[in-house]
Amino acid sequence: MNIGIITGASSGMGKEFVKLTMQNHLELDEIWVIARRKERLEAWSDLYKEQKFRILPLDLQKKEDMDYLGKTLEEVQPHIELFIHCAGFGIMGRIQEISMEEQAEMVDVNCRSVVEVSSLVLPYMKYRGRMIYMASAAAFLPQPGFAVYAASKAFVLSYVRALRAESREKQLRVTAVCPGAVKTEFFNRALTKKHLPAYKKLVMADPKKVVKKAWQDNEKNKEVSVYGKVMKLTHLVTKLLPHSLFLQFIGRK
Ligand SMILES: NC(=O)c1ccc[n+]([C@@H]2O[C@H](COP(=O)([O-])OP(=O)(O)OC[C@H]3O[C@@H](n4cnc5c(N)ncnc54)[C@H](OP(=O)(O)O)[C@@H]3O)[C@@H](O)[C@H]2O)c1
Repeated sequence: MNIGIITGASSGMGKEFVKLTMQNHLELDEIWVIARRKERLEAWSDLYKEQKFRILPLDLQKKEDMDYLGKTLEEVQPHIELFIHCAGFGIMGRIQEISMEEQAEMVDVNCRSVVEVSSLVLPYMKYRGRMIYMASAAAFLPQPGFAVYAASKAFVLSYVRALRAESREKQLRVTAVCPGAVKTEFFNRALTKKHLPAYKKLVMADPKKVVKKAWQDNEKNKEVSVYGKVMKLTHLVTKLLPHSLFLQFIGRK
């Protein structure tokens, strides 16, 4: 059975990836959609009656839910053509303003789930299969005021680049997506402790465009997908200049 798996499929960029997958007619026997909000996942079957969706209302923080995903893969023994990992969240605020539990949750969902879900799906990835991971431009530089989130996305970027190098034999196309701020529900939770900095409002991207670019970059087998001129420039300068220089200015009270 040929399948695609999309996590974070209940909202934002995950939703856009489901739509793009459908538009690209990949002839998948099933698309497995993962997130906690079951009713939102079930809506996919109503929207696209011609496609079979497997609804997996899983919390990627819960061991029993990861076990369930592992068992389901083992039973079905699918050939995974497309794997897209979008589940993630961030909370803005200085380290001491965010509870230890919330910080650990960010590490769990943004980092541990990447490691665990990847380990589960990799044995079933098809030759030349596609893997797309949502990292963030926050991965380019430490971010005072968003420290745990930025560190978690630096982890994702580093992990995905290594995974890509390890996957050469199977010729997997593996891409880390690193957008700046994107207009999604992400900010409902991100801004519970802080207002959005004005410069982020100016460069807020359309999720459709970010996802389309990510899809195209992955088709071209690019390692990193960065949407928009401002973020491309940010990527470049954070590679060229010492991070200590930026850290003198950002996140000051
Ligand atoms: N928006 C931005 O500015 C931005 C910028 C760069 C990178 N990103 C990254 O892009 C990815 C997608 O974010 P988005 O902007 O599309 O945000 P979003 O609209 O809030 O979507 C986040 C998705 O993650 C799922 N999720 C969160 N916690 C989960 C858990 N414990 N178990 C299972 N699923 C979980 C949510 O589903 P349920 O709530 O239904 O579980 C939702 O589908 C994230 O990794 C985010 O860090 C976002």
